[in-house]
Amino acid sequence: MNSKLSLRVRNSGLLPLKFFKDVPDGNLFIAEAGRQVPFDIKRVYFINNLANQKAVRGHHAHRKLEQAIFCISGSFTLHLDDGRTKQRVLLNDPSCGIRLGPMLWHTMSSFSYDCVILVLASDYFEEADYIRSHAEFVAAVTAADGAAGR
Ligand code: TYD
Repeated sequence: MNSKLSLRVRNSGLLPLKFFKDVPDGNLFIAEAGRQVPFDIKRVYFINNLANQKAVRGHHAHRKLEQAIFCISGSFTLHLDDGRTKQRVLLNDPSCGIRLGPMLWHTMSSFSYDCVILVLASDYFEEADYIRSHAEFVAAVTAADGAAGR
């Protein structure tokens, strides 16, 4: 990840972790709720075995859920779309995650063979919180922006 990266999409941002470099005895990365991660954590999930380099995951937004996504091994590309602005981010640094706030369409692709993705989430799994149609997502963002006079 480019250390000068800034997130232009709404409801996102960089989440640098607390980090102790103990080389050659390993590195220690720490994420604490309310500190490095801007919400209380109710759920943790991780994705490995991304053997299919053509795999594309995600393709959805969440209505209310807050998540923090980390690439703790290898690399992948995160595609973000807030309904107005799109941004592509290479995740290849375990010490810095990305906030996936509400109403942020995201897909993940171009996984390295050793990629492991870690996600911290603010709530339990709830299918009703997902928007899985991009057209529905754009309509919802447009309606919310219109109501807010943006
Ligand atoms: P999904 O979030 O669509 O995966 P991705 O965004 O990584 O492509 O979830 C895939 C399936 O797993 C879907 O059927 C819902 C289920 N699932 C749970 O049951 N609990 C969870 O916490 C998550 C993240 C997914």
